[in-house]
Amino acid sequence: MTDRWFMAEAIEVDGVGVIGGKFKEMTLPRPYYQDSAVTIYHGDCREILPLLPKVDLVLTDPPYGVGGGSGTVGKSRRTKHDYLTFEDTLEHVIREIVPRFREAMALSDRAITTPGSLALCHYPQPDSFGSMIQPATVGMQKWGSADSQPIFYYGRDPRVGKAIGKCSFVVTGRPEANGHPCPKPLGFWKKLMLRGSLDGEIVLDPFMGSGTTLRAAKDLGRKAIGIDICERYCEIAAKRMSQEVLDFSSHSKPAQPEPRAG
Ligand SMILES: C[S@@+](CC[C@H](N)C(=O)[O-])C[C@H]1O[C@@H](n2cnc3c(N)ncnc32)[C@H](O)[C@@H]1O
Repeated sequence: MTDRWFMAEAIEVDGVGVIGGKFKEMTLPRPYYQDSAVTIYHGDCREILPLLPKVDLVLTDPPYGVGGGSGTVGKSRRTKHDYLTFEDTLEHVIREIVPRFREAMALSDRAITTPGSLALCHYPQPDSFGSMIQPATVGMQKWGSADSQPIFYYGRDPRVGKAIGKCSFVVTGRPEANGHPCPKPLGFWKKLMLRGSLDGEIVLDPFMGSGTTLRAAKDLGRKAIGIDICERYCEIAAKRMSQEVLDFSSHSKPAQPEPRAG
């Protein structure tokens, strides 16, 4: 099923802009994957964001501009997976990614993002700041080891007045090797999800990659919309969505062999 929206086109009357003169029908593309909690769109978020309704939180990990161009191998990250269709130059992040992030922010009163350390000064001024501290170090920078990444918070903490939440997190868990060049560790991402949203709320990730935001949302009783420009990443994310949440209580004891008859 596709959702239909109508967008007003601005027209000019005697040099004055008037909104609502003409209506152009805009249709959301058919979801690549959908279940009761998650919807995945394959496409450029530039085209999909204007068609989406309001959400409760934008939680996203956009390209960082670390130098991998479309089709190049992500040597800087020492990953065996290549950057398939997304460009990851700093110029591209400034020209294309930051404006899209602003559009996504306009759909919500709250946003949390990990902008990367190279591009961070090109993002809108955050309301709060934190760090993802990685003592094991994930690379090198000009002044030494790259052992933390910024976290930008926009809008208000949904639990303001009830509890004082942490803004920085020590991350020791590794991301799962799922075929994406730079997935975020699920445990860490769940902490950001819990910081930024309440039970049952809707979370949007316009740069979802392998769907870590969506998996976190599903595991934590939220709903989520994810977009990625690369079909292979949509496929990886869709596969992750169809894995049911494991109930460890029922898996805690190894199965006993069947007693032999006779
Ligand atoms: C840093 S990765 C996100 C990784 C994700 N956090 C995960 O755990 O797998 C950024 C993603 O943005 C996607 N992307 C880049 N430009 C895009 C665009 N214009 N629209 C939608 N997705 C885009 C890339 O394909 C890439 O998968």
